[in-house]
Order: sequence, then C-alpha cells, then structure tokens
Amino acid sequence: MFFFKRSKKKHQEDLHIDLDNVPEHIAIIMDGNGRWAKAKGLPRTMGHKAGVETIRNIVKDCSNIGIKYLTLYAFSTENWKRPKDEVNALMELLVTYLRQEFEELNRNNVIINNIGDISMLPKRCREELDSAYERTKNNTGLTLNLALNYGGRKEILDAVNGLVDDIKDGKLQCTKVTEDILERYLYTKDMPDPDIIIRPSGEQRLSNFLLWQCAYSEFWYSNINWPDFTKEDLHKAIWDYQHRDRRFGGIK
Ligand code: FPP
Repeated sequence: MFFFKRSKKKHQEDLHIDLDNVPEHIAIIMDGNGRWAKAKGLPRTMGHKAGVETIRNIVKDCSNIGIKYLTLYAFSTENWKRPKDEVNALMELLVTYLRQEFEELNRNNVIINNIGDISMLPKRCREELDSAYERTKNNTGLTLNLALNYGGRKEILDAVNGLVDDIKDGKLQCTKVTEDILERYLYTKDMPDPDIIIRPSGEQRLSNFLLWQCAYSEFWYSNINWPDFTKEDLHKAIWDYQHRDRRFGGIK
C-alpha cells in the first residue's frame, strides 16, 4: 500500500493508492502547454519545453509504481496544421528528450517505443526513435509509447489496409475479419487496452486518440495544464480509477 499525502492546502486529503491494483496501461493526452505559456506571457514553445519536464517526472513515477504501459499523445496527425516553427520545435524537443533521457530510461528498464506513422517525421527523429527502441526492446519494465503522427482513424485504416495486403499476398487466410485479427494489425498489437485515459487542461474530448482501444477505458479529466501536472495529480487519477466499478458491459 502506498501512502501519499497531498501537499496543496486547498485539497487536504490523504490518498492511498493500492500498489497491487495499479492500472496496467495509462494513456495521457498531454494538453494545455500553449495555455500554460500564454498565461505566463511566454511563447508556446516554452509551454512544450515545460511539458517535457512533466513527461520526465510522470514517466519516472509510472516506472516506480509498476505501471506496465504508458502511452503519451505527443503529436497527432492533425498537429501538422500548426505553424511550422512550432512543429519544428516539437520535433527538436523529441530528439533532445530521447538523447538526454536515454541512459536513465534504460537504467530504469524502460522500453522506449513509439506508435503512429513515424515515416513522416524528420529523419533525425526517426533515427533517434529507432535507435532508442532497438537499444531498449529487451528491457522488461515500463513500455513508454510515444504517440507520434498518431491518429486513431489513421491507425484503423492502416490496420485494414495492412490486412487487405496480407490477404492479397496470401500471408493471411480469412473470410471474416474478427476483433482479434484486426488487433494484430494495430500499432498497439500485443498491448493491453488503456485502463484509464487522462486529459489535463479542462478539455473533455478524445481528439482522435486510441479510438479502437478505448472502448472500455475509464476517463479522467482535470483542469490543470500539462506543464503543471504532477505525480500527485497522477496518483489522484489512479486513486479515482481504483474506486470505479468496471463492468465491461456486464453486471456484478
Ligand atoms: C498539447 O498542448 C500538446 C502537444 C500538441 C504536444 C505535446 C508535446 C510535448 C509535451 C513535448 C514534446 C514531446 C516529447 C515526447 C518530448 P497544446 O499545444 O495544444 O496546448 P493548448 O491547447 O493550451 O494550446
């Protein structure tokens, strides 16, 4: 049993998260970087930079408390619509993060994975991602999924097209597609569905994130912008999750 005392005066409450019952897979829509920066009179890119600090803390904590999968929505298929400077800054932050954090993540047994169509990312990003994955794929701790050029609809379309190609090439024999077969073609193949999806910053929508996988995920929202999101907020989400009644459409 983990004992955690929330320090913020406004919320004097003791939270106990049950370490034997943590979610297997946590997925986070890291939102509110821009608003965080604007509120401080800073350029948006400073919000993303501050967001990377939060990533460091949250990844470390997830690894410590025994989470098996953490999926972070870092760049969506729609984020290409942003100004070129912002897109470039995000790509640069990704490379810096992978370079700076690699040793520690590897030491902590983390598998650095990515989901999404990274073929459209700049070459240096693809190289860092491929190398990070190759060097950590045999680790046995937390799998950190960085969702990059990720879109839930694109993922489903890519899966269907991959499946159709395999049927045409004679690599797959099937006359009816089942959930099991389709799941083998998703980016998240062999991974459990997210137990909980967390979205900070006050927005309450999915934004094309894990559309197939979130069929029975619990949702958790908070008004805190991602750069201000702390380990304590994560534990609050986990605590809430542990007090929900998950029935998966059945009855108890
Ligand atoms: C959403 O906030 C955030 C993003 C689109 C990017 C998230 C990326 C990072 C935190 C850093 C880079 C990633 C890695 C893996 C190093 P927003 O910009 O939409 O915020 P707003 O809604 O307040 O404008």
